[in-house]
Amino acid sequence: MSARLHDARQVHFAQLPPLALYVHLPWCVRKCPYCDFNSHERAGELPEREYVGALMRDLEALLPSVWGRRVRSVFIGGGTPSLFSPASIDALLAGVRARLTLDPDAEVTLEANPGTAEAARFRGYREAGVNRISLGVQSFDDAMLAALGRIHGAAEAHRAIDVALAAFENVNIDLMYGLPGQSVSMARADLAEAIRSGAAHVSAYQLTIEPNTVFHARPPALPAHEACADMQQAAEEALAAAGFEHYEISAFARPGRRCRHNLNYWEFGDYLGVGAGAHGKLSFADRVTRHEQPKQPREYLAGGRPAAVRAVGSGELPFEFMLNALRLVEGFAPELFPARTGLAAPVMEAGLKDAEKRGLLERSVGRIRPTALGQRFLSDLTALFLPHE
Ligand SMILES: C[S@@+](CC[C@H](N)C(=O)[O-])C[C@H]1O[C@@H](n2cnc3c(N)ncnc32)[C@H](O)[C@@H]1O
Ligand code: SF4
Repeated sequence: MSARLHDARQVHFAQLPPLALYVHLPWCVRKCPYCDFNSHERAGELPEREYVGALMRDLEALLPSVWGRRVRSVFIGGGTPSLFSPASIDALLAGVRARLTLDPDAEVTLEANPGTAEAARFRGYREAGVNRISLGVQSFDDAMLAALGRIHGAAEAHRAIDVALAAFENVNIDLMYGLPGQSVSMARADLAEAIRSGAAHVSAYQLTIEPNTVFHARPPALPAHEACADMQQAAEEALAAAGFEHYEISAFARPGRRCRHNLNYWEFGDYLGVGAGAHGKLSFADRVTRHEQPKQPREYLAGGRPAAVRAVGSGELPFEFMLNALRLVEGFAPELFPARTGLAAPVMEAGLKDAEKRGLLERSVGRIRPTALGQRFLSDLTALFLPHE
């Protein structure tokens, strides 16, 4: 205790945060012009078996760092994981279970593209142990999907949702808004379709133009800033009216269907990252580390270079925590900060006071949450917790 009083910036965990596993599968049929994820156009047959082998090699290298800890959720993301056969996903999950203790009721999500959705495939994923599907629908409007360079149209998106819902109760739909040529009423129509579809979770992201994408090199004409703000508001209103809870800036869920894996990121939990370019965060009694795998699939498969590991400086932890926790509409309980950063609670006090003064944050008994203004200007809010020398 006295040691901690001497140095409030010293990391100390009495109990480690919950642990999740992220698995990255880096291939897609075609690269979308807006996408800056580590995804690569497939050229011919995918090396599925070799890749699952490489994932297991990675996992084994990380095992000594998480000895004895249970894994609460698995997220197989991409890229387009639904390009992998059910047999490969089965081998992957069997390999994970053989090496790690997975909670019996662990949430296991697989990302799928509506252009690669078949009933038998989805049943196979369920048999392999996947219990949640996340579908990259983006829009139900053919013209919007074409503008986004998607490999599927609206009819395929509807079919994919039906096929996913036939095999899974827990289905998420990714939508994007603020698309080239999109009006607020078009965005509303997309939301209405998403609600009608029967999905239990909707993620609605504003299209952002990222460096190193085709859209960055040749920017399309996008709706005005105010129209995009109206679209976000339309999403909040329509989904609330349909019984969805808005729990994170972009995430909406029916009761009981919040994404446990993503909640663990937002609550600054720990996670292992395996697969090309995947990164992870792990806590130990006296420090927090981040790891990152080699990005290029070919280099990753060759296995010449281990994951890069670095310690997160204790001065960076308050900002990193807030960057995640303040995305949550309901904010967080004050005790979450010491539990997940290993730092003393007073470390966040100056930043909290400043944010309150600016009307970006509010405190009530047992809760610290962003105000509506704070949600809108989230980067200004989180910047108040940046380390200052
Ligand atoms: C990694 S992608 C995986 C989904 C799957 N590969 C697909 O696209 O069908 C996750 C989601 O991020 C969103 N996304 C990707 N790039 C984006 C961007 N530049 N702006 C906003 N959202 C984006 C899309 O909604 C996408 O479905
Ligand atoms: S399918 Fe998804 S991951 Fe692949 S390029 Fe398109 S948005 Fe990116």
